[in-house]
Amino acid sequence: MKIDFEKNKIEALVAMSPENRFYLTDFPSSFGCAVLTEKEKIFITDTRYSEAAKAIQETFKIVTIKSGEKLHELLAGEFKRLGIENVGYEDSFMTVSSFKNLKDGLKDFKLKGISDYLSELRSIKTEEERQRIATAQEIAEEAFKKVRRNIKVGMSEREVYAELVWESLRTGADGMSFDPIVAFGENSAKPHHNQPTERRLEKKDIILIDFGVKHKGYCSDMTRTFSLGPVANELQVIYDIVLKAQEYALKHIKAGMTGHEADALAREYIKSNGYGEQFGHSLGHGIGINVHEMPRIADKSKCILKEGMVITCEPGIYLEGLGGVRIEDMVVVTESGIINMTYCDKILEL
Ligand code: CO
Repeated sequence: MKIDFEKNKIEALVAMSPENRFYLTDFPSSFGCAVLTEKEKIFITDTRYSEAAKAIQETFKIVTIKSGEKLHELLAGEFKRLGIENVGYEDSFMTVSSFKNLKDGLKDFKLKGISDYLSELRSIKTEEERQRIATAQEIAEEAFKKVRRNIKVGMSEREVYAELVWESLRTGADGMSFDPIVAFGENSAKPHHNQPTERRLEKKDIILIDFGVKHKGYCSDMTRTFSLGPVANELQVIYDIVLKAQEYALKHIKAGMTGHEADALAREYIKSNGYGEQFGHSLGHGIGINVHEMPRIADKSKCILKEGMVITCEPGIYLEGLGGVRIEDMVVVTESGIINMTYCDKILEL
């Protein structure tokens, strides 16, 4: 990625959030600070990571902070050495107290918030980033198919959840993108049923699984809804509506649209079938280092979809007490449409 220093009217950028630090360095760490300037890149960390940070020493000057040393004094010293006046910082990440420290420590410099700029930059994925997300999705699908094959009447949500995590890691995932959602029957009507229970599966239950895995720092995300036997008639009806809404949206989403326009593709169809009120969440979200990042694909979203963005398309309908349906694919936005990164079938009754 290339930082446009001129456009942002800064000469240096300081990244302290784990996500942006990783984005700018491709080096995972729980503590540190990445400093980018036009001339030089610096990675400030402590002794826990100074050894591992050698992996990026060809592009970054590694500075190890010693006990008693203050990060802001170190930063100020580097900025003075490089003749920097304007510094970009992450205004969306700071706590009030860390901002106060930053302001005091860097009082000789002009500070400018650049969180929005970084989010926008991150929303468009490079080839390498897309490849990592695609690999995460391949791993997720392989694990999902194994788990789906082995789901049996009598299993609990907790057991299926455990199988999902186990199979994901065994298949090569570095970790999970978020706590998987495994919901049976009436529990699937809660869009974010994120605590698996002892609820045991019955043949007539609808099953909703929403999960993703991480690969080299990047997330995948998918949702499938299915059953082992015939489900209540209305669940079959909403399944068909959700699937058609998703297919329609996937067929028409393309670069140049707003997040609102993309969302409306599915929402209007669901509304016209009488279930607008039961589709309470947004159609999708950008995905990358974070499972939810820019752009927002929502009713009120003014985000413009651009070529190279990776987003999800996940319409849903939820009927309290009965069950819910959500189907989620992850796609790359292009000028002419989308490239679907999700291959898994969308069969309701297995
Ligand atoms: Co999602």
